[in-house]
Amino acid sequence: MAQTTNNVFTGLMAHFYQHGWVWVANFLPPALNQALLADLQQQALQQAGVGRQQAHLVNAQIRRDQTAWLDGSSQPQQQYLDVMAQLQQAFNQQFFMGLFDFECHYARYTKGDFYQKHLDAFKGRSNRVLTTVSYLNSVEQGGELQLFDEEDQLLSTIKPTATGLLVFESERFPHQVLPAVDERFSIAGWFRRNNSVNGMIDPGS
Ligand code: OGA
Ligand code: MN
Repeated sequence: MAQTTNNVFTGLMAHFYQHGWVWVANFLPPALNQALLADLQQQALQQAGVGRQQAHLVNAQIRRDQTAWLDGSSQPQQQYLDVMAQLQQAFNQQFFMGLFDFECHYARYTKGDFYQKHLDAFKGRSNRVLTTVSYLNSVEQGGELQLFDEEDQLLSTIKPTATGLLVFESERFPHQVLPAVDERFSIAGWFRRNNSVNGMIDPGS
């Protein structure tokens, strides 16, 4: 298991180094993926907000998904956070990225839900460095993630598939979620840098 994870990490790092983003079709162990999906179903998901500190400035024009933050209060959440901590360590060791922590939320998109093209971080205004998206179910129709480059050219259209992981630099790549047809479950996460000022940890955006 540890060896498998290491091999997956090596391929992931090589593609990321060249492109600033990477899609790994088989990332999560299937048993963990299933446990997370079951855990998600237990959550009280809330209409997602847009803006700093998820201020619940709910803007249905921009996004329509429902979310719940992971806090490590169940075993699958703990295991997921452990896997992501290993990934954080790998990025820090290979690229000296200074990733400091990780926050993530479950998301559910039901029929017609979407997330318009956006950036997860704006240069100099956020401590979000890397975005991760884990897909917990395989979708037949709709809900594709489209990733664009800095010139707004389409780089990739990703069909959500269970166990898959997408990672990209948060400031560099605009992206959008096309309207869902089938229900779609994911975990969106962010590795953050510590932009502490006077010892106060920046809470991020
Ligand atoms: C986000 C996001 C993409 C997805 O939550 O910021 O872009 O595929 N999610 O769930
Ligand atoms: Mn996003």
